[in-house]
Amino acid sequence: MTLLAIETSCDETSVAVVREGTVLSSVVASQIELHAEYGGVVPELAAREHLRNFMPVARTALENAGVQSGVLEAIAATQGPGLPNALMVGLKAAQAMAFALRKPFVGVNHHEAHLYSPWIVGNPPMADFASFQPNVSLIVSGGHTMLVHVESELKHRVLGSTIDDAAGECFDKAAKLIGLPYPGGPEIDQLAGQGNPKAYDFPRPMLRDANDDFSFSGLKTSVRYFIRDNPDVVENLQKLRDLCASVQAAIVEVLVTKTIRAANRLGVNCVTASGGVTCNSALRKALTEACQRKNLTLRLAEKSLCTDNAAMIGILAERKLLHEMATTPLDAEIMPGWALA
Ligand code: KG4
Ligand code: ZN
Repeated sequence: MTLLAIETSCDETSVAVVREGTVLSSVVASQIELHAEYGGVVPELAAREHLRNFMPVARTALENAGVQSGVLEAIAATQGPGLPNALMVGLKAAQAMAFALRKPFVGVNHHEAHLYSPWIVGNPPMADFASFQPNVSLIVSGGHTMLVHVESELKHRVLGSTIDDAAGECFDKAAKLIGLPYPGGPEIDQLAGQGNPKAYDFPRPMLRDANDDFSFSGLKTSVRYFIRDNPDVVENLQKLRDLCASVQAAIVEVLVTKTIRAANRLGVNCVTASGGVTCNSALRKALTEACQRKNLTLRLAEKSLCTDNAAMIGILAERKLLHEMATTPLDAEIMPGWALA
């Protein structure tokens, strides 16, 4: 089956062509620079930029895959959750293509698609996926932080999620307080590389709570008070690196501890992680070490597949079609608040 997939839920315009679990092409036009001057994603600008980017990105994805639109057998798009106007661009484009080509349309949950991104790379692609279920999957990005129990293919249960800010949001807001440019996650990661993670003590919110939920707004607030009380820290490069390393260590410890605890409790032997924050070098290292200690197999999404992309949308849509799950009506609407259950 050859399938074209579209992702426009936030600030990445992405189109991919997928065939039998293989990603033939995946093109991502990032809007990071557009939103940087506002210090965060501006929804209306994001939607307009998707409109501008969509055709060139789609053309390039088809060209890179060496595929003509006539051979496409299905069209998929993110239906939710996400920014309403941004979602609408990709969803309506996908439905129009499916209508014109007289092919089925599949609307996909963005978070469910993240569950598949760690398995995309492999030889043959997706081959390992079947052997590593059930698993516990951490989805961690600017908009979401959740732990999911993947029981079997297309069957999962959300164990917990953030009750306030997402981990990526905490990275970005802390970075802003420190005076670093948006998006702050990669900036903190880089500076933290030469800092001492034990220099300053920041809270580990909900670390000891007997549930799988997260909370990061208090950590952000403690960074705000710390800078107010210690303004010299951001003026001195080494202290700044130590501050970044200490904030990062707090976020990473919570994410890793709660992920491993859930995996142990549920008796799974595999842990996966995806979403933009999974690019973070300290998180990748800490998860790797923790999984080694606990004899758990770890699958981290490749960095290019951690951030939002249409390849994961296409892979999930193809699995749904292979399992004869119902296709989505051509007049289905966006679902901006579509929570993964
Ligand atoms: O998945 P993503 O591209 O978009 C969504 O939010 O859905 O994730 C973006 C988030 C931002 O908050 C960004 O700061 C964070 O991922 N991020 C990182 C790193 N790279 C991206 N956070 C920490 N360290 C990184 N290396
Ligand atoms: Zn995402």
